[in-house]
Amino acid sequence: MTFTTLDHPLARHYLTVLRNQETEPEEFRNAARRLCYSLVMEATRDLPTEEIDIRTPLEKTIGHRTSKVVAIAVLRAGLGLLDAVIDLIPHVKVGFAGVQRNEDTAEPIEYYFKPPDLAEATVLILEPMLATGGSLAWAVDKAKESGAQRIICLCVVAAPEGVDHMRLHHPDVHIIAAGLDRDLSDRFYIQPGLGDMGDRLFGTT
Ligand code: URA
Repeated sequence: MTFTTLDHPLARHYLTVLRNQETEPEEFRNAARRLCYSLVMEATRDLPTEEIDIRTPLEKTIGHRTSKVVAIAVLRAGLGLLDAVIDLIPHVKVGFAGVQRNEDTAEPIEYYFKPPDLAEATVLILEPMLATGGSLAWAVDKAKESGAQRIICLCVVAAPEGVDHMRLHHPDVHIIAAGLDRDLSDRFYIQPGLGDMGDRLFGTT
């Protein structure tokens, strides 16, 4: 497994906006979207392309077309990254994975999974908070069962526990995160983290 953190001043800026408890949902959603542009650029660095013949206003030349990409947003927090993915990636197809965590054990409880056709696609899994790793490992399991072969996970913040869990259970995936935090609280929240990402995106508590 490879684990990469973004090393960019703008990523640090937007991550700080997300962490700040004073940030209201509208600004939080904007910062999540803007941060996600950097995650997508990093995650698609090695995306296969094919050459195509095109004509500029001056002459014929060779262009490049990106290969098939599917994004799977893990509900609810993954929705906060989806706009940037749709905006940047041509022809992306989107699926959704519904998982709730047991608040006492942090075990994932599945309630929905509907991917588009994953054959020959690069699959981006949008799971902003990599805490214990249970939900992300579940989503990767489901994607693999549905035929995914090349999987890249986009996270906003990761905890070492979650990274270790993914290394153990899915050594073949790539994870890109904006930040790697210290540890988990006794309620399985990432510390220092940014709180509950879904609540902060949608103004719920
Ligand atoms: N999910 C969140 O939204 N926040 C955390 O800190 C951990 C899991």
